[in-house]
Amino acid sequence: MAHHSKLNVWEQTWELDEAQCPCDIHLLEWIDSQAVSDAAVFHFGTGVHHLVGIENARPTRRNAVLGITASVEEYSAYESLIMERPDVHRYYTAVFGDIYLINDALLPQFDVVTLFHLCEFRTAKNDAYGAHTDLELATLLTRQTRRGGHILFYANSSAFERADSRVREVLESWERDCDVERAADFKTLIVYRKR
Ligand SMILES: C[S@@+](CC[C@H](N)C(=O)[O-])C[C@H]1O[C@@H](n2cnc3c(N)ncnc32)[C@H](O)[C@@H]1O
Repeated sequence: MAHHSKLNVWEQTWELDEAQCPCDIHLLEWIDSQAVSDAAVFHFGTGVHHLVGIENARPTRRNAVLGITASVEEYSAYESLIMERPDVHRYYTAVFGDIYLINDALLPQFDVVTLFHLCEFRTAKNDAYGAHTDLELATLLTRQTRRGGHILFYANSSAFERADSRVREVLESWERDCDVERAADFKTLIVYRKR
């Protein structure tokens, strides 16, 4: 029988922690500061709290969010959430899977794309099944961003704190090859606009 590599799932679950990881909270503050509403948002890394999906479903925002998680527990929390809150489900879809296997044939155009956890969790396990690289993923999701839309990174992620600074190299190539320009940063978020 052929050998199949198993999916690189995230064997953890992440509670909201404003002190350690404020990126999702800062995203909501940025969304409000830009008066983003009735928009389409792609969100990398839901957390078990699903804050980005829940908060964007509010009548004042009505942003449709497609979130992705590679954590079984976080996805189970999403199932419970939408059974309790169809009002949230109307705006918020989460998928379980490896973002590095995302298929652009299935994606719409987004107004806002978050890549907060780029270069944080991708390992040789993803290579084993030929998953996208970090640069390929960023490029793919930039193609799925509308002109004038925004792509956001998280400056305090563990990838930025690592000494090898691979995420900076990825961002340099991405910025050079994709039609993007740096916009105004917001708190811990690095913000780009697609030209
Ligand atoms: C440290 S948690 C942060 C969650 C949330 N953004 C927050 O700040 O509270 C990292 C998130 O990335 C997700 N994740 C890790 N690797 C992933 C992958 N390969 N594909 C999709 N999501 C992944 C995890 O499931 C988790 O939701």
